Amino acid sequence: MQLLSTKLNFVKTSATAQIHNLILKKQEAGEKVINLSVGEPDFDTPQNIKNAAYNAIKSNNTKYTSTGGAKQLKLAIANKFLNENSLNYKMNEIIISSGGKQVIFNALLATLNENDEVIIPSPYWVSYPDMVTLCGGIPKIIQTKMENNFKLSPDQLKEAINLRTKWLILNSPCNPSGSVYTKKEIVDLCQILERFPHVHVLSDDIYEHVIYQDLPFYNIPQVYPSFKSRTLLVNGVSKSYAMTGWRIGYGAGSQHLINAMTTIQSQSTSNASSVSQYAAIEALQGDQEFIQNNKIIFQTRRDLMLKILNQSDYIKVIKPMGSFYALPSIRNLIGKLTPQKKIISSDKDFVFELLNETGVAVVPGSAFGAENTFRISYAVEKNLLQEACSLITNFANNLH
Ligand SMILES: Cc1ncc(COP(=O)(O)O)c(C=O)c1O
Repeated sequence: MQLLSTKLNFVKTSATAQIHNLILKKQEAGEKVINLSVGEPDFDTPQNIKNAAYNAIKSNNTKYTSTGGAKQLKLAIANKFLNENSLNYKMNEIIISSGGKQVIFNALLATLNENDEVIIPSPYWVSYPDMVTLCGGIPKIIQTKMENNFKLSPDQLKEAINLRTKWLILNSPCNPSGSVYTKKEIVDLCQILERFPHVHVLSDDIYEHVIYQDLPFYNIPQVYPSFKSRTLLVNGVSKSYAMTGWRIGYGAGSQHLINAMTTIQSQSTSNASSVSQYAAIEALQGDQEFIQNNKIIFQTRRDLMLKILNQSDYIKVIKPMGSFYALPSIRNLIGKLTPQKKIISSDKDFVFELLNETGVAVVPGSAFGAENTFRISYAVEKNLLQEACSLITNFANNLH
C-alpha cells in the first residue's frame, strides 16, 4: 500500500521553493545573489509591536486562547473594520488563524464538497489552486488579459459561473500583478454576482495597506453592502506590519461560516500563537505611521523599477498600483538565445538563465498561471533593486 495520499498527486511543489533551493546553492558557492523572489516586506516589525509581545510573555499571556482568537484581538479587528472600512462585524463573525493562509484553507475545507468549483482569476497567488484541490474542489482558472490590467471582466465572470460554482476568489491589490480593482469594477462584478446567489466571494485583502498614489481601497461589502453575508474577508498583519513570521491572519464573514471554520481550526491547530495575537492587537491599535511610511518607500521603489525595466524594448510591464510585485511580460524574448547559446523557450528558462548568469532571482510567471511573464518583488533596498533591474534589462537586451 502506498504511504502517501492520492490527494498529493494534484499538488505541485512550488516554483518559489525551486528558486529558493537554487539561490541557496549559489550562495553556498559564495556567489552574489540579489533576491527579488521574496513575498514579504524587507522591513523589521515595528518596535511597539515587538514590545507588546515582550509584555505578553512577561504577563504570562502564553496559554491557549479561545480557538477563534483572543477577545481583545477580535475587538481590535472589529474596530479596524469599522474605522477603516465602515463595516460592522460582531465578534462571532470574526476568526483569527495562523496567517491569512490558514483562514483561506479553513474556509475552503469548511465549504467545498467534491467537484464544487472555485473561480480563480489568473494570474493568481500560487496557493489558491492547490488549496482548492486539497479540499476536494475544482479550481476554475480564468485567464485575465494584460490589456485589462490582469483584472477579471464581468463577461468573463458571467461565463465562468455554473451551478457548481461555490466561490469566486478576488485578490486586490493582487499578488502577483499589483492590480487594484476600482469601485466601479467591483460594482460591475457584483451586478453579475447578483444573478447567481449561490456564489460566495472570498475577498483576499491581505495587501489592503500596500496601495499607491492615494488610490482608495475597496472590497465587496464596502461597495455592495447587501453582499456582506456572502463574502468572506481575508486579511492579516503579515504584509501591512511586516509580521510575516508571527503568523496572524483573520477572516470576517457570516456567523454560520465562521463557526464552521472555527470547528475545523479546533480539530487542527487550535488558536494562533497567543503571543503573536497580543502583538497583533498593538499592530492594529497602535501608531499607524509605519504603514504610511512604507507605502512611500514601496512607491519610490516601484517607480525606480519601472524606469529601468522600461529601458528594454523587449520587456513590457504594467504599472502596479498595489502590493510590492510586478509581472513583466517577456513574450518578445521567447525563442531567443543567450550569449552562451541557450534557448529561452519559456518563462522558466528566462528565470533560471537570469539567475545563473546575473545572480538576480525572480519567479516564473507560470507559477501564478501567467506564462511568459516573471514576478519581481521590489521589497528590497533601493540600491540593490537598481542594480538588479539594470542586470535584468541588460540580460534581456543581450538575448538575440
Ligand atoms: C495574496 C496572498 N494572500 C494570502 C497570503 C497569506 O499571508 P499570511 O498567511 O502570511 O497571512 C499571501 C502571502 O504571501 C498572499 O500573497
